[in-house]
Amino acid sequence: MSIKRTILVTGGTGYIGSHASVQLIEAGFEVIILDNLCNSKLSVLERIHGITGYYPEFINGDIRDKKTLADLFSKYKIHGVLHFAGLKAVGESEKYPLKYYDNNVLGSINLLEAMCLAGINTIVFSSSAVVYGNTDDVQYTENMTLNPINTYGLNKKMVEDFLRDIYRSNNRWGIALLRYFNPIGAHSSGLIGEDPNQVPNNLLPLIAQVAVNQRNEVLVFGNDYNTPDGTGLRDYIHVEDLVHGHILALEKILSNPGLLTLNLGTGRAHSVLEVIQAFEKASSRKIPFKFTNRRDGDLAVYFANASLANKTLGWKPKHNLDRMCEDSWRWQSNNPLGFPG
Ligand code: NAD
Ligand code: WQD
Repeated sequence: MSIKRTILVTGGTGYIGSHASVQLIEAGFEVIILDNLCNSKLSVLERIHGITGYYPEFINGDIRDKKTLADLFSKYKIHGVLHFAGLKAVGESEKYPLKYYDNNVLGSINLLEAMCLAGINTIVFSSSAVVYGNTDDVQYTENMTLNPINTYGLNKKMVEDFLRDIYRSNNRWGIALLRYFNPIGAHSSGLIGEDPNQVPNNLLPLIAQVAVNQRNEVLVFGNDYNTPDGTGLRDYIHVEDLVHGHILALEKILSNPGLLTLNLGTGRAHSVLEVIQAFEKASSRKIPFKFTNRRDGDLAVYFANASLANKTLGWKPKHNLDRMCEDSWRWQSNNPLGFPG
């Protein structure tokens, strides 16, 4: 009989972490979630149980708390870490940079230090396409120069830098730096999905909230970009496909340590208007929208060159934009107010 491997999922009650916890359980891993619930709810655990039949072990704690981490690593035999915990609002990071450095950078240092002390050297880190920042190319390839233009992007690049340094110091580490493009969608059950505690910043949760009449309209930031319909183009990726990339990366670095740096995107770009139309089709509802000024810091177009993840992991996203919107709609219409609690 093989021994179950145990994975610590920081931020595991959040949007992507909850979907990852489900897929980890389904792949036969034991899951321990560490989350301070600053942007998620405890009832996510019920839903994970509803999908998988298992309750993951849950620790209500903060990655900035060294004692919590030390206690956790001494209590459980952990084989690897999926590190999702973090704050993710670009605008807020510009307004409150120290809050973001404290949470995202110091929190990650604490986690890495605790892993070193416990002798755990496998980690998958949630990085982001924002690390590329200011560049002339619109299709991002992993070996491009990183030039983030906001605090949130700098946070992600710094943690990537720490992990590259750790790997240089000790090549027995297994490290996957996964750079996400624009994750949307929800689990096909409609039981888990994106439920931000505050007013969302991202396009999809805003559209979904308009669809259930929680907001009146979507403000479309700019219709004067040099794009076919004038609105911004992004590489939207289904959260289930994204998370599947994590499972493959984790399996790979557990069995064959090394440093992987991979884009997780589809390689296709859709405009804001295309996303609104796809959501209207999925929900059979009209989504009122209004054009307004461009948002500071927004780029007209970017999307992934996702060929390296395909070559390295055999990973290929399966779901198109229609399916992403159908799953988002199932989640939002079944849970108009998000998770209970
Ligand atoms: P989320 O806010 O839904 O999940 C993050 C979780 O981390 C939340 O449950 C929150 O309560 C928890 N958390 C935050 N700070 C913590 C701390 N100090 N200690 C313990 N728990 C803490 O966000 P998400 O969309 O699931 O994103 C997960 C990760 O992926 C983040 O690191 C984010 O930066 C990164 N990412 C997200 C996107 C995206 O568009 N969603 C894109 C690229 C990268
Ligand atoms: C998508 C498109 C907007 C809101 C950010 C981060 C990125 C990743 C995902 C974390 C753009 C337009 C949006 C609205 C709009 N997160 N828009 N009206 O800015 O591409 O990426 O979130 O790592 O790193 O930078 O995502 O969903 O905010 O915007 O017109 O109310 O929708 O201008 O073209 P973005 P988004």
